[in-house]
Amino acid sequence: MIDIHCHIIPGIDDGSKDFTNSVSQLLAMDAGGITHAFLTSHYLKGHYEYSREDYMRKLEALRAGVRGKGAKLKLHPGFEVFLSPSILEDINQKNLTLGDSKYVLVETELNGLYDDFSQHTFELLRAGYKPILAHAERYVSVMKRPSSVRKLIERNIYIQVNTGSLVGQYGEKVRQTAWILLDNGWAHLLGSDDHVRGPYRSYFDAVNKIKHRIDSRTAQLLSREHAEMILADEDIPYKYVHVERRHRSKSNSIWRWIFG
Ligand SMILES: [Fe+2]
Repeated sequence: MIDIHCHIIPGIDDGSKDFTNSVSQLLAMDAGGITHAFLTSHYLKGHYEYSREDYMRKLEALRAGVRGKGAKLKLHPGFEVFLSPSILEDINQKNLTLGDSKYVLVETELNGLYDDFSQHTFELLRAGYKPILAHAERYVSVMKRPSSVRKLIERNIYIQVNTGSLVGQYGEKVRQTAWILLDNGWAHLLGSDDHVRGPYRSYFDAVNKIKHRIDSRTAQLLSREHAEMILADEDIPYKYVHVERRHRSKSNSIWRWIFG
């Protein structure tokens, strides 16, 4: 399993505050079966703004800490970029992507998805980046009308859902919205969005729920295969759900039976 969204780099945003807690959390992830994690610190101009060098120094320290404890978990650079005017310059200059890929995890005001979101993501797309909307299910407009994410997908924006949302950590409305996205094949990736404020649990619980409620194939796509495409900088398919047309295959078999 791969976690593409967590705030485990210490002392850089509102996530982990302490190196030792970060290492413990990473060891828990490793023990539960997470093989790769993108450590996506918030990047918000004027608020959470830092140099690439500072970030990489902290990442290297965590890599050494985890290796020293014998964990196999691989740590990759990543950022949760708050969209704002001229953010493209920072993305270009500081390479605010997931690993070495062209994927960029983005967020905006939870109540303002459509105000200038399309304009910002269009600029990213035109520059060759592949935007992933973080925790789409938490946006007010998406909660009001979950099918609105189809417009985003048609505009080449990928959808990430928080595992905590699927297990009810953000309330019932967010939980219902998250499942509507998954049930309809409108979500491409999972992330814990873990801030090291408690045990690392929701990712494992959510993947088990997806296996039971939908199927193992969907759980595998969302928890591993799509994220592997980020690691390889390959294109994740925007539409990946193949609806089985049972009635059609049934009627086909009747015609086959009659006419051979
Ligand atoms: Fe986040």
